[in-house]
Amino acid sequence: MTDFTRYLYGKPRPTLCFLSLLNLFILPGPVVDLSARGMQKLEPSFTCSEDTHTLILDGNNIMKLDHLERNPGLQQLSVASNRLVRMMGVSRLTELRVLNLPNNSIGYIEGFPS
Ligand SMILES: *[C@@H]1O[C@H](CO)[C@@H](O)[C@H](O)[C@H]1NC(C)=O
Repeated sequence: MTDFTRYLYGKPRPTLCFLSLLNLFILPGPVVDLSARGMQKLEPSFTCSEDTHTLILDGNNIMKLDHLERNPGLQQLSVASNRLVRMMGVSRLTELRVLNLPNNSIGYIEGFPS
C-alpha cells in the first residue's frame, strides 16, 4: 500500500474508489462507471466510496464477480456483455434492487433456487 492508499483507508469515509486491479483511483460519487476497461475480475480489495449506489461494469471480460462484499450499499449493479459464468456474493448485497446481466453465460446465481 502506498502512503496515499493508507491515507484513504484511514479515513472514516473514503472519498475515492480504489481499484487495485488497475491501480487506479476512481472519482467518487453515487455512480461508478467502469465500462469497457478490459477488466477480467474484481480484486478482493475492490471498494467504492460509501455513497456509491450504482456500479457499472458493462463491456469488460469479467468471468467471476466475486469480491463485492466491501460494497454492501450497492443498489444497482450492471455487468452486461461480460463473460460471467457464475455469480457469487450477490446474495450478500442486501440493498440491491437492480441487477442487469444481459449477454453473459451465467448458469448459476448463488442465493437463487436452481
Ligand atoms: C456481447 O458481449 C460481447 C463481449 O463479451 C460483445 O462483443 C458483444 O457486442 C455483445 N453483444 C451485444 C448484443 O451486446
